[in-house]
Amino acid sequence: MRLNNKVAIITGAANGIGYAAAERFIEEGAFVFIADFDEKAGIAAAHHLGDKSLFVQVDVADRESVKKLVSTVIEHAGSVDILVNNAGITRDAMLTKMTEDQFRQVLDVNLTGVFHCTQEVIPHMVAAGGGKIINTSSVSGVYGNVGQTNYAATKAAIVGMTKTWAKELGRKGINVNAVAPGFTETEMVKKMPENVLAQMRAVVPLQRLGTPRDIANAYLFLASDEASYVHGHTLHVDGAIMM
Ligand code: CAA
Ligand code: NAI
Repeated sequence: MRLNNKVAIITGAANGIGYAAAERFIEEGAFVFIADFDEKAGIAAAHHLGDKSLFVQVDVADRESVKKLVSTVIEHAGSVDILVNNAGITRDAMLTKMTEDQFRQVLDVNLTGVFHCTQEVIPHMVAAGGGKIINTSSVSGVYGNVGQTNYAATKAAIVGMTKTWAKELGRKGINVNAVAPGFTETEMVKKMPENVLAQMRAVVPLQRLGTPRDIANAYLFLASDEASYVHGHTLHVDGAIMM
């Protein structure tokens, strides 16, 4: 029970990696707020995960919506120990074809959304004397990826924000780290052309895609006290795709 009695907010937890993380955190004793835009999947997720979870609809790109999320969490649980900034979207296109809208939508969710959630949660963690922030980067942000100008920019920015927040928030007892997943079996990769995905799979030394639980286990480690001295780090959980 590595997260016994801890209160966690996991954004994007209605589906994919975030859902697996909610499941894993609950197995280890946490209460999880499933903070997601997708109402139908969020309600279903909370139903499956049981009474150690609560769905709160949020658009992380919208400051007011994030404020409401955090006040709901504080009302219900009194505090928040762990924030996993996991929500993310893709709008893939080659640079020459990428529209302004595609560029901005991805920045709004993947970058500004992480800024909103962290900024709203931090005062509560400071008041409580500490906490854990986990941000989701990507292999695409660390090494670049064809068709992902917008997405790679946000996921590289996550690495810089994580290091900056580690420097600002360490003295407040708040650990800040990131996870950079490789290609992982969720809806996000299902949108990829099969030939591109096959190429990616073939160059992973482990010869498989990641599972949502592979990534959830890394979130769990960083959220637990076992990682108390891990700080400002980006943990690559990618089967060594780019090694
Ligand atoms: N490496 C090298 N070349 C590539 C390539 C790759 N990975 N992907 C495409 N190309 C090449 C194509 O072969 C093609 O070359 P030619 O012009 O010589 O024929 C050229 O780039 C244009 O490709 P398309 O014909 O496919 O162009 P399009 O405009 O129809 O589509 C695209 C472009 C939307 C980017 C499409 O190729 C695509 O969806 N690619 C996959 C992008 C991707 O990897 N997304 C990851 C999603 S999962 C995720 O984001 C999670 C995470 O964090 C990893
Ligand atoms: P997914 O598409 O399965 O789940 C993403 C979740 O985020 C969905 O439930 C969606 O409703 C939610 N979401 C989207 N926009 C939102 C918003 N504005 N506000 C609140 N919630 C919102 O994707 P997946 O694969 O589980 O991705 C999770 C994270 O992992 C993302 O940050 C993604 O960029 C990252 N990642 C995924 C990889 C993969 O191969 N699947 C690889 C590397 C990183």
